[in-house]
Amino acid sequence: MQFFNKTSPIGIFDSGIGGLTVAKRIIAMLPNENIVYFGDTARVPYGTKSNETVVEYSYQDAQFLINKNVKLIIVACNTASSVAINKLKEKFTIPIIGMIEPGTHLALKSTKNGRIGVIGTNVTISNKAYSSELKRLEKNLEIIEKPCPLFVPITEEGWLDHEATKLIAKEYLQDLKDFEVDTVILGCTHYPLLAGVIQEVMGESVTLIDSGMAASLEVEDYLNGRGIRNDSNQLGTHQFYVSDLPAKFKSVAERFLGTEIKHIEKIDVDSLYRG
Ligand code: DGL
Repeated sequence: MQFFNKTSPIGIFDSGIGGLTVAKRIIAMLPNENIVYFGDTARVPYGTKSNETVVEYSYQDAQFLINKNVKLIIVACNTASSVAINKLKEKFTIPIIGMIEPGTHLALKSTKNGRIGVIGTNVTISNKAYSSELKRLEKNLEIIEKPCPLFVPITEEGWLDHEATKLIAKEYLQDLKDFEVDTVILGCTHYPLLAGVIQEVMGESVTLIDSGMAASLEVEDYLNGRGIRNDSNQLGTHQFYVSDLPAKFKSVAERFLGTEIKHIEKIDVDSLYRG
C-alpha cells in the first residue's frame, strides 16, 4: 500500500536525458512540485530493444520511483509508453501518465489538412503507437511514420545544432515533406532537443508536437482534479538518479535546464529490481 500526500514527489523516468524535456515543462508549470527523475543511462537506447526488454526495464524503473514514495509516475519515454503503459498500469496501483495519448490529442487539435507525420524510435514506430491511436480517434487522417533512431545518440552526445545533425535530419524527414504534412509529432522525448533543426528542415509552416508538453498539461489537470497538487509556497526539490555516468548527465542536464543540479546519484536499477 502506497502512502503519499500532496508534498510527495512526482516520479519521472526515461532511458536517458530525453525525459528532461518533460521535466523542464513540469518544473515551469508546477514549480512547487518535488521531482524524482530516473534516467537509465546504462541501458539507453530503449528504442532499438525488443518489446519484452523495454517492458522489463520499465517495471524496474517504475519500481525504483515507487520506492521513492512518488505520488504519480510520468513515463517520459515514448518507447516505454508505447509497449509498457498498459502493463505498468496493471502491475502498479499508482497513477501513471504516458506520452502517447496526450501527444495524439494535441496533434489532432493542430492539423488543418489531416496529414500528420510521426517520428520516433524503432519500437514506437513499429508498434504503431501513435498511428493506431490517431486512427481510432479520427478515421480520415493520412499518416506517415518514420523511425529516426540516430536522433537519440546524437542528442545524448549533445550535437543539438551540429552540421551532421542537419544532414541526418534532412535524410530522415524528406518523406514527411514529400507527404506534405502540416503537423509532426515528436514521438520521442529526446527529439524536442533537436526541435530547432527539425523545424528548419520541415519549414516554419509545419507544427511540431512536443509529446512532453502535452503530457505536462495532463499531469497538471490530474493533480488539480485529485486535489493532490503541492500547495506549498516553496520551490520544489529535484533529485536525479541515473544508472551510469552521472557527471555526463549532470553537465547536459544543467545546460538544458539552465539550473544547477544539486542532487545526482548513480544507482544499479538492474540488480535492485531484477525479476
Ligand atoms: N526518449 C525515449 C523515447 O521517448 C527513448 C529513446 C531511446 O532510448 O531509444 O522514446
